[in-house]
Amino acid sequence: AAIVNYDFNISWVTAQPDGFSRPTIGINGEWPIPQITANVGDRVIINVVNGLGNQTTSLHFHGLYMNGTPHMDGPVSVTQCAIPPGGSFVYDFHINQPGTYWYHSHDSGQYPDGLRGALIVKDPDSPYKDQYDEELVLTLSDWYHDQMPGQLARFISYANPTGAEPVPKSALMNDTQNLDIKVEPGKTYMFRIINMGAFAGQYLWFEGHTMKIVEVDGIYTEAAEADMIYLTAAQRYSVLITTKDDASSNFAIVGSMDQDLFDAVPADLNPNVTGWLVYSDSAPRPTPALVDEFEPFDDFTLAPYDKLPLYTDPDYSFELRVEMNNLGDGANYAWFNNITYVRPKVNTLYTALTSGNLATNPAIYGDHTNPFVLEKDQVVEIVLDNMDPGKHPFHLHGHAFQTVARSEEEAGDYMYNETLPAYPMRRDTVMVRPNGNLVLRFKADNPGIWLFHCHIEWHVASGLIATIVERPLDLQNTLSLAGSPYASPNSSALAIPTS
Ligand code: C2O
Repeated sequence: AAIVNYDFNISWVTAQPDGFSRPTIGINGEWPIPQITANVGDRVIINVVNGLGNQTTSLHFHGLYMNGTPHMDGPVSVTQCAIPPGGSFVYDFHINQPGTYWYHSHDSGQYPDGLRGALIVKDPDSPYKDQYDEELVLTLSDWYHDQMPGQLARFISYANPTGAEPVPKSALMNDTQNLDIKVEPGKTYMFRIINMGAFAGQYLWFEGHTMKIVEVDGIYTEAAEADMIYLTAAQRYSVLITTKDDASSNFAIVGSMDQDLFDAVPADLNPNVTGWLVYSDSAPRPTPALVDEFEPFDDFTLAPYDKLPLYTDPDYSFELRVEMNNLGDGANYAWFNNITYVRPKVNTLYTALTSGNLATNPAIYGDHTNPFVLEKDQVVEIVLDNMDPGKHPFHLHGHAFQTVARSEEEAGDYMYNETLPAYPMRRDTVMVRPNGNLVLRFKADNPGIWLFHCHIEWHVASGLIATIVERPLDLQNTLSLAGSPYASPNSSALAIPTS
């Protein structure tokens, strides 16, 4: 295992990935921002300096369990305070899981302004390592022209009573609209595909080629063939693609934003982004066929490669009812069980570390954080009943959960009468359908303060967040404020491991 060091100076740059020039949040003067790359077992140390001048920031490493270092998870007001302009923060953690991840700001709806990139954990012992020649990263994203602070202010205001989310201006592939990927005939490539978007799920396919899915959200799967996949915001897939034996044609790679998510589709919106598998510069580039019905692969049919069986007989099961509606100020908010998340003034982790035995009482975290306290090794079940006519991709920090049940749209509440899969797929982000339901299970084996939220950045802003307080007394035993230079609830780091 190695130590992998990064120095990140986060600052404003100008970028024009779709031809429109705008201020964008870059790192070390550049955008796209760097990929974080490590091997399983490595320690990663990232020195972050906030050079934005006008905004606070933080980094979250989406999908990493942060086992033993929950104070490195990144969400502001949860595990740390925001890094102020001119301030710095050192993220220091071990990665003991392989796979395809990403990192992004977890402060004030900031990442769609550019602060999101790939995080790849290579695995010399991958069960699929002999089945491909080369690996490549393919990111998808929606893209806006206006900066988030102004858009968020308009979005959450009486002027937007229906809560209509701003529609992206365009879609990007590897942060461009001119992506050429050179390939050679008769080879197999592993594409690590990441949707780093703020809002739009995307359908993705490779013209003339079949994908073999081998990983989702960091979990190896039994290999499954697919012609088209769907990635919600924040989901990842690794797929193997074997190229043709000859170089007589090039083939389009198409990402297509899911327009079901958009309340009104502007006439000039191009929902697609097209990249190319380039076999030969002189070969033709046939226009991709139009798709009139999207039929993506169903991720619930995947099985985990490790065959971890279904967690049975949950020790703790709770329901989260999703609703979106107006509150007193005429603005549209989202809530679980009638509570819209409001950031606490003191970090939830700091509260857990400083409240002794009271830390197991959800009330001390404030109802407005939607707290759920877990005990050691409980099998936990979240039943999500979506009362809203929209699709929501839900994400849990600190865990990959078993995807135990998911209804079709309009099915209403979960009825507890289904036969569950013996080896459910695990992942960290999954979509509930409109007015449908979703059931997830995981084991409380990772002490920390973990957010559970919709990964549509607009819905984070409108409060669709719960706080999972996992084993707070164990946190008190493993993290200490003593001797920390940051031992204050308002500082930009708050705890150091005792060991
Ligand atoms: Cu990516 Cu909170 O998450």
